[in-house]
Amino acid sequence: MWINKLTIKNCRSLSNIQLDLSKNLNIIVGDNASGKTSLLEALTLLSSGRSFRTAHISDLISYNKDSVIVSARVLNQRHNSTQIGLKKSLTSTVIRINKENIYTQAELSTHLPLTVIHAGSIDLITGSPKLRRSFIDWIAFYKFPSFHQQWKQYQHVLKQRNICLKEYHFRSSLDEWTQELVKLQPLINNYRKDAISLLKIEWFKILNFLFKDFEFDLIFKSGFPDALDISEINLLHYYKERQSYDLKIQRTSSGVHRFDFKIMMGDRLASDCASRGQLKLLALSLLLAKNSVLSGTDDNSENKKGILLIDDLAAELDSENKDILINYLSSLNQQLFITMTKQYNIPSVNLDYKVFHVKHGDITSYN
Ligand SMILES: Nc1ncnc2c1ncn2[C@@H]1O[C@H](COP(=O)(O)OP(=O)(O)OP(=O)(O)O)[C@@H](O)[C@H]1O
Ligand SMILES: [Mg+2]
Repeated sequence: MWINKLTIKNCRSLSNIQLDLSKNLNIIVGDNASGKTSLLEALTLLSSGRSFRTAHISDLISYNKDSVIVSARVLNQRHNSTQIGLKKSLTSTVIRINKENIYTQAELSTHLPLTVIHAGSIDLITGSPKLRRSFIDWIAFYKFPSFHQQWKQYQHVLKQRNICLKEYHFRSSLDEWTQELVKLQPLINNYRKDAISLLKIEWFKILNFLFKDFEFDLIFKSGFPDALDISEINLLHYYKERQSYDLKIQRTSSGVHRFDFKIMMGDRLASDCASRGQLKLLALSLLLAKNSVLSGTDDNSENKKGILLIDDLAAELDSENKDILINYLSSLNQQLFITMTKQYNIPSVNLDYKVFHVKHGDITSYN
């Protein structure tokens, strides 16, 4: 699917913008503080109800205005059009699809799936394990419907076990909750392993394109010591041995809630030795691989592919890497929005594109 027309009202410095977009590549050029990232934020707001830059809608609504409005005409491969719109104030959200009000953001996301790559995306590699856990869990939620139920149940059991470790008068239930915990751990662990296998297939394809001279790998860290075979019986044993330590720290020290993955560059951790440009390409490769896994290869995959937003594409990349990246992105057959401070000469890709210049919150199209 792709966005054919976009309207933005009162999103940061963008007061009233109407754009006719390219089905392929849309290049947004402008000086610092001109409004480029705001445009991408408006798109993510329409897709997910949230910005990737702030958790507060008040930051996004233009100063002295009550609400932000974003609407788009979305076309699919068969040229069917859907009009989607969102109006958000500090206290309310109105979502419309083809002029009818709808009440869940999730429905809107299915009409406008998108992947955004921005300055904070490298946190996926260098930041906290929590980000990597939710990255993989999102794939598992999407691909394996029963994962969600088991994940929720695990959170509940873990909480109960931690209460038993903390509070003496619940101590008699500790064994019971430990038994519940070890039943769920192998299941959750396997779903994550399967999600990572799916991700790796796509990820290696992308890496082949983006990196010529490096070997990468993604190492699964279950949340238990590496050598431990994660079966119910082994885990019971393991938790018995750890019990005095868990009692001392008053929480469950190991388990699938501590799951993580590491990106290796040769035999070193990428987070320790990759350059900023390499980290940017690595984060991008993981996000694109996830996008590929989620859109799948079924009949409907073209519609599920969604759009790609890349904020400040040129930052930290040399011209060779920029060309490699643009060539790769243009082979994906997905609508692209890229922002940059200086117009960059697109290599001769077989791609129809439009350039938009942003200045003080106003946008002009040049072709
Ligand atoms: N709520 C708001 N209302 C009006 N203007 C705002 C609001 N929030 C931020 N701004 C201003 O919007 C302008 C555009 O910001 P934006 O981050 O989109 O710029 P940019 O073009 O991405 O810049 P850079 O190249 O530095 O990343 C900035 O001047 C910023 O101060
Ligand atoms: Mg910006």
